Amino acid sequence: MKMFLTILLFFHGFLSVAQLDPYHYTTTKNVTAKKAAVVSAHPLASDAGIQILRQGGNAIDAAIATQLALAVVYPVAGNLGGGGFLVAQLANGKKIAIDYREKAPGNASRDMYLDSSGNVIEKLSTNGHKASGVPGTVAGLFKSHQYGKLPFSKLLEPAIKLARYGFVISASQAGSFNREKADFLAYNTKPTAFIKQGEWKEGDTLVQEELARTLERIRDGGMKGFYEGETAALIVEEMKRGNGLISLKDLADYDAVEREAYVFDYKGYKIVTMPLPSSGGVVLPQMLKMTESRNLGKYGFHSPEAVQLMIESERRAYADRAQYLGDVDFVKVPVNKLRSQEYLEARMKDFTPGKAGNSDITKPGEFPESEETTHLSVIDQWGNAVAVTTTLNGGYGSKTVVGGAGFLLNNEMDDFSVKPGVPNMYGALGTEANAIAPGKRMLSSMTPSVVLKNNKPFMVVGTPGGTTITTSVYQSIVNIIDFKLSAVDAVNKPKFHHQWKPDVVYVEKDFPADVIEKLKAMGYTIRERAPIGQTELILINGKKIEAVADKRGGDTALGY
Ligand code: GLY
Repeated sequence: MKMFLTILLFFHGFLSVAQLDPYHYTTTKNVTAKKAAVVSAHPLASDAGIQILRQGGNAIDAAIATQLALAVVYPVAGNLGGGGFLVAQLANGKKIAIDYREKAPGNASRDMYLDSSGNVIEKLSTNGHKASGVPGTVAGLFKSHQYGKLPFSKLLEPAIKLARYGFVISASQAGSFNREKADFLAYNTKPTAFIKQGEWKEGDTLVQEELARTLERIRDGGMKGFYEGETAALIVEEMKRGNGLISLKDLADYDAVEREAYVFDYKGYKIVTMPLPSSGGVVLPQMLKMTESRNLGKYGFHSPEAVQLMIESERRAYADRAQYLGDVDFVKVPVNKLRSQEYLEARMKDFTPGKAGNSDITKPGEFPESEETTHLSVIDQWGNAVAVTTTLNGGYGSKTVVGGAGFLLNNEMDDFSVKPGVPNMYGALGTEANAIAPGKRMLSSMTPSVVLKNNKPFMVVGTPGGTTITTSVYQSIVNIIDFKLSAVDAVNKPKFHHQWKPDVVYVEKDFPADVIEKLKAMGYTIRERAPIGQTELILINGKKIEAVADKRGGDTALGY
């Protein structure tokens, strides 16, 4: 009888969500659509967004539902306990930038990760309770929802059901949980859904009842269902058990901020992107503007000349990132100067074609950041275009799940400069501008962007990848605009990355060998590395929508 009831409840759960089938799903890498599309890191999350669009929701609603589903089905980066940025161009022309980046807790201090001799204490800013900033995601979803159409409770439905009734995991997810088991055991004070007796395997079902109840508290209590009451108490109890810093006051005080999107021209297109604390809002325009008047398109895609020019613009932009960028609510950042044409032309004056630059010589300009983040792109039938990048920082963030609440906390504190001159987990350097202070937002690389043609959405783009995020977005944009690549090639062709220090050009394994040889002959140090990013791109050409999910992950593009 009990078994019968369980089965009945189980099917009742799913029948009411229409097409979501968490037991039989496959990835779809690209789709051509007429009305709407969603691309995200997981098929069930993309499907949650599509279902919301089919029920009359707009792209903002779909982006919220997709993020909530990612928090369940893609726990490596999808989150309630992290933060993110949303950039959108609404059908009425309004441009939106919502900042839900985590903040340093009120008890955080500049040298909190240093020992008494001033040395960085290994793993303190990356693993466990002390690595977490105050989560921003739930506040960001509510801030975004003012532009949505459907009730928030509707947007939560797919996520609640996926958490409560479970979904089958892929081989790569099973492998990832198995690899993380030792860390999950080390950094948790209570049992978590991610730890299983024995090994996870493809086709196992992941059920997250505690997470389902947290999502229901958000449904019933709104923002307060997370930042106050039982969920907040569970977060603070978890902090106490693990020596973390987040307090009830930190949670009650947190709010997302609507900022002015940064909009700039590039070769007849307008690019709408995220301002600080996203470094992307400075680094992306810097790189594009440093190469705009040069011959990228004529040199050709992956020509040594074009690649060298791009490497040198990346070097210069990342030197400035390390020196100047931080939370503008706390430090003065000369953003206008950093993005001015005159300054950027001066920065490229010492560029020598055919000869590698040198990061000990190229200093930041003078005038008076495991890479597990996730991106989703959405377009709807009305022309609302939404790009969201959201993160726990490293894979599974701090690896600490809030006991009784079922969600992982971020390790975003490592995106601060914990000590000037000491690289963070992405090898990124920083200065006082990005030093820790209570309530301050750590610098990010997340660069969700919408490119406009004739003031209408033409491209929706973004990617995870730590410091490689901005170079990947840069390359995806020039791949389409300058090199005229197809959307599929713009996403999937090999990428490269230079971030000033270390003075190394990182290339993906399938980067053309002849170009590598030519770059070496110019004096560059080349290092092969793991895949760069998981770009989710939508291209809109008149009535044709092409949505592409990166081949590098289990991502899925859906549309209709
Ligand atoms: N945690 C990665 C970023 O925000 O850049």
